[in-house]
Amino acid sequence: MNVLVLGANGQLGWELQRTSPGSIGLTAIDYPEVDLLDYDSIHKCINSAQPDILINAAAYTAVDKAEQDEGTADRLNHGAVRQISEICSSKGIHLVHISTDFIFNGMNHKPYQPQDTPDPISVYGATKLKGEQAVRKVLGPNATIIRTAWLYSAHGINFVKSMLTLMDTKPELNIIDEQVGTPTWANGLAHAIWGTIEKKVTGTHHFTDAGAASWYDFAIAIQEEALGLNLIQNEIPINPIPASQYPTPARRPFYSILDKTSLWNALDIKPIHWRKQLRSMLRELT
Ligand SMILES: NC(=O)c1ccc[n+]([C@@H]2O[C@H](COP(=O)([O-])OP(=O)(O)OC[C@H]3O[C@@H](n4cnc5c(N)ncnc54)[C@H](OP(=O)(O)O)[C@@H]3O)[C@@H](O)[C@H]2O)c1
Repeated sequence: MNVLVLGANGQLGWELQRTSPGSIGLTAIDYPEVDLLDYDSIHKCINSAQPDILINAAAYTAVDKAEQDEGTADRLNHGAVRQISEICSSKGIHLVHISTDFIFNGMNHKPYQPQDTPDPISVYGATKLKGEQAVRKVLGPNATIIRTAWLYSAHGINFVKSMLTLMDTKPELNIIDEQVGTPTWANGLAHAIWGTIEKKVTGTHHFTDAGAASWYDFAIAIQEEALGLNLIQNEIPINPIPASQYPTPARRPFYSILDKTSLWNALDIKPIHWRKQLRSMLRELT
């Protein structure tokens, strides 16, 4: 079985490569070998890899920048995804596409189900939703769409690595305590994606680690775990603040816990709490 991963140099693309089962033939590609803003480039890349399965881990993920750059975000998160879906449809390739909790408005008080009504409140969320809709329109229920949230890994730029740098250089930190989600180690998501391929799981599902946290909770946990592992030397004050004290170009959902039951059941997954996963990732940095 040949699998093509797009977005190979991203956090998830990197984790997909190091968790890939030995039995598959893996081609992992990123910009500039493929430019998803260029239809011919997408076509050539898929033609040359001849995959049975395509995992699209590439995306325009700069949430704030997208507010000023809607055209590019839409071309990457929607236009390119429609083109990938059409090529997959014509060649009989199974598509696994990754989406986001940001397709929801965050006004829920209970975990979002896969079938809950989307209502994105940012350009990034809206373009990712249009991408999902294109996959469903072109490939129907045969494709696999997995929404995830708050990803981090030892590779790439993310909240955990930014916090470690700030904790070593700033006298104190102010972190938003109002937005609640689930920090998710991209490694666990990669394992789940390989699981969906092995068990032929299709449709729209959610995957994050288990549990919930605010960004403030997450920062506190990063500090505690990093001190224990000697990744940082000094404990600094971390202060909870409302979102209004840290304005960003893009609005973010206040609550974006995803209900993972359908995928956990389909894959027979034993959920792992986000804090345990955080510890595993931080150990990789020691
Ligand atoms: N990060 C999160 O917190 C989060 C949360 C929820 C959902 N997700 C979704 O999860 C998936 C993986 O996210 P991630 O954090 O692994 O993303 P990431 O680290 O930003 O990686 C995205 C990859 O896409 C590539 N890419 C961008 N523009 C491209 C182009 N024109 N042609 C080809 N490749 C291009 C990037 O390459 P360059 O580096 O060269 O630009 C990068 O390697 C995405 O679908 C994302 O929307 C992420």
